[in-house]
Amino acid sequence: MKVDVLLGLQWGDEGKGKIVDVLTPKYDIIARFQGGPNAGHTLEFEGIKHVLHTIPSGIFRDNVINLIGNGVVIDPVIFQGELEKLKPFHIDIASRLLISKKAHLILPTHRILDAASEAAKGKNKIGSTLKGIGPTYMDKTGRNGLRVGDIFLPSFKEKYKTLVKKHKSMLQRFDFEYNLDELEKPWFDAIEKLKELQAVDSELYINDALKSGKKILAEGAQGTMLDIDFGTYPFVTSSNTVTAGTCTGLGVAPTKIGDVVGIFKAYCTRVGSGPFPTELNDETGEKIRKEGFEFGATTGRPRRCGWIDLPQLKYAIMINGVTELNMMKADVLDNFETIKVCTHYLINGEKVEYFPYDVNDLEITPVYEEIKGWNCKTTDLTSFEDAPKELKDYVQYLEQKLETPITVVSVGPDRKQTLNNKH
Ligand code: GDP
Ligand code: IMO
Ligand code: MG
Repeated sequence: MKVDVLLGLQWGDEGKGKIVDVLTPKYDIIARFQGGPNAGHTLEFEGIKHVLHTIPSGIFRDNVINLIGNGVVIDPVIFQGELEKLKPFHIDIASRLLISKKAHLILPTHRILDAASEAAKGKNKIGSTLKGIGPTYMDKTGRNGLRVGDIFLPSFKEKYKTLVKKHKSMLQRFDFEYNLDELEKPWFDAIEKLKELQAVDSELYINDALKSGKKILAEGAQGTMLDIDFGTYPFVTSSNTVTAGTCTGLGVAPTKIGDVVGIFKAYCTRVGSGPFPTELNDETGEKIRKEGFEFGATTGRPRRCGWIDLPQLKYAIMINGVTELNMMKADVLDNFETIKVCTHYLINGEKVEYFPYDVNDLEITPVYEEIKGWNCKTTDLTSFEDAPKELKDYVQYLEQKLETPITVVSVGPDRKQTLNNKH
């Protein structure tokens, strides 16, 4: 068996949580491979909306194991908060959720360092979610980090103190006030709770599962343009959000990767700072934000909105080896006479069809093709065959330009508002 992957092709918030939840009945294991509580994955069914940050989006389905891989970073306090929110649903967390011993821990001082670093950057700030993601991955690659497996060691408190000492000396360089004492007790309380869950050698678990014929779906967080290597650096997150991240974040060999589902919105959004060539700072952008309710699931910040960007999507499809596409939030464009698609850019008067290296510094003019909108309600559709002709045309147009089939079209946040496009 192989591991299928589902990940975002834009700047995050494409609707990964919803689709993972929809796909989960086809799988035995759902595994997160990178990121942490910077992610906010929304699921909706039976009239209830759930937002998950660290826990994989397969958690609501019976008979499925949810695994937090070694590539993930965990804030025990936020994680505990997520578990609390799941309590009313009587999910047997202890048997359904596994955590890699090699996943790194976010310390309270990582969060403080994140905030201090962002404050020091002033107008050049990344627009981080302030969850301590960057500093935690820095300690991981700097070989100073604490891992889930460490919490069971008698030396854990010592290791913690050593790292916090280092952080305190780093914080002296910033003019930043903080109160660590009030954060430490809840953190250690949450560590005790974490001990009650199953910490495993997840790479062994996954590979054994593959051998015994289990079906596994890897759930990406963030999006391709936020990848530490291939995103709009430095306005990115600190992990590999792309397919390759599955291999390092779960311990799965490249030869064991199966289908790669790339998911994107029928338009485009970004939250936080950094380049966004097709951003609309006008009424249209405002209208997309309003109709799409584009506010961050983790931070509540308004998301920046714009049209779909083909050079950007082609780049993401290439980097991830996408085998099929899912188009989300088509319904958000229900009230548009025309829809625009960026086919290429003009840079210094020249036509550019790829995503350029110096995107941060260049003056990029997106060039658009206008497409006729469907201009009618799609949220009640139950079959793609019944979709308005213009929506079908939009899907076909994108499939042709992106040279990849669009197998799912989503027309609302609910599980049920998911249309299969048969090929
Ligand atoms: P994720 O981070 O990729 O899981 O996405 P988020 O949960 O951060 O953001 C996606 C938002 O869009 C959530 O509020 C979802 O409930 C919502 N959503 C997902 N699919 C659709 C859709 O097809 N139509 C609409 N209107 N909303 C959707
Ligand atoms: P999901 O999984 C959208 C953005 C932040 C910021 C940058 C760095 O819900 O799609 P970080 O806290 O990682 O250091 O922030 O990345 N960002 C996201 N944007 N969706 C996310 O996750 C994001 N996670 C991080 O806004 O610009
Ligand atoms: Mg999100």
